[in-house]
Amino acid sequence: MDTARLDQALVSHDLYANPEKAYEVFRQLHAEDPLHWTDPKGHHPFWAVTKRADLAEVGRRNDVFLSSVQAFLQDDEEMALTMAASGKKTAPIRTIITMDGDEHKAYRGILQGYFMPANIRTRLPQLQDCARKLVDKMEALGGECDFVKDIAVYYPLLFITTLMDLPEEDHDKILRLTMRLMAPKDEQAGEGASIAAASKEFGAYFAGVVADRRANPTEDLASLIANAEVNGEPIGVMEAVSYYIVLATAGHDTTSSTLSCGIHQLLKHPDQFAELRANPMAVPLAVEEMFRFASPVKQFVRTAAQDYELRGKTIREGDALALFFHFANFDPEVYEDPYAFRINRAPNRHIAFGMGAHSCLGQHLARLVIPTFLTEFNERVESIELAGDPKCVASNRISGLSSLPVRYRFRQKAAA
Ligand code: HEM
Repeated sequence: MDTARLDQALVSHDLYANPEKAYEVFRQLHAEDPLHWTDPKGHHPFWAVTKRADLAEVGRRNDVFLSSVQAFLQDDEEMALTMAASGKKTAPIRTIITMDGDEHKAYRGILQGYFMPANIRTRLPQLQDCARKLVDKMEALGGECDFVKDIAVYYPLLFITTLMDLPEEDHDKILRLTMRLMAPKDEQAGEGASIAAASKEFGAYFAGVVADRRANPTEDLASLIANAEVNGEPIGVMEAVSYYIVLATAGHDTTSSTLSCGIHQLLKHPDQFAELRANPMAVPLAVEEMFRFASPVKQFVRTAAQDYELRGKTIREGDALALFFHFANFDPEVYEDPYAFRINRAPNRHIAFGMGAHSCLGQHLARLVIPTFLTEFNERVESIELAGDPKCVASNRISGLSSLPVRYRFRQKAAA
């Protein structure tokens, strides 16, 4: 592919709806220009960072590579809407994703302890309950369903909204807004979807939750955020709302994508599925391979605060760098046979959760969510197979399936 087509392909949402085509681009960049100056039409130019080592270096050097200027790639049209709504390249919300330095440390500190493994494990009974409800739903659907639309999207959402104590009747609204925020160009997002509009609607919804938890605080996660202090002062409504938005989107879309991608890969590799089902000890390693293969977050952007040498090239102050987590997880220098899904891949040093100060706050939770579902599923589902063609989300921001038709049989319940 020539450079002009390659640059256009890199930002095209449709490319990522076809994994085999996307992998061709991954292969070409890794072989020819792994740190690639990309200048597509209708887009600001940026460096495409595709090697694991470079992503790790940029992630660790958060004194040089700032998060506060721009969060992720947006085309000129989207960027104009964002700029009109906020006056800057970031959405009109203030999340820790777009904070730097001490401010980032202070706001991240609000939830750091909550998401540590010791605390998260105390929520296991609630998580098991969510997994049970979704496997019950699968059973009630009577042997055939769309695993993405009927099951996977609701499972982590149910858990995160349980932690935040948000009513079940709001789940569909949260799902719709998440899709508009994460993949505004996918057909599921609907006509005229934009990041700016979705942020605004989310903001209005969550402002009501902040007000409620300030007036009537409880033990839930929403109350913890609404009543948090930074430097001895209560945090602003905007900052609280923004935290909710990150949790309500990043907290479920990523894990549900990993789960459906993982199940899809297992269906494509029945020998590995059988091995996993026979040996629960194999689950933790298999889950890491699911994170690597799914790479649900495709990219975040950093902006250079000064000139910097990387892979023999000079990054200039003000240049944008797209950290392509997905590409880096298929780096042939790091992973043997990277395009093969292997549940026993070891070591599996994937970078799906990023690296450095902004690395994923929810990674310990994600590492609990997937195995908990698999345990419930393996105990109750006797057999499962594909019942149609899966479909991938068209987005250069998130990876995932939008549809996975399956046919299955539950084990007979033992007579009482
Ligand atoms: C498969 C699951 C997940 C993946 C692959 C994932 C991936 C990521 C990535 C790549 C980043 C950005 C790293 C960077 O910029 O260097 C991130 C940040 C973040 N994630 Fe996750 N995530 C997942 C699940 C979750 C969950 C379950 C939650 C919370 C409930 C969560 C909350 C966050 C937050 C708050 C940040 C911002 C951290 C910061 O900027 O300091 N994520 N995640």
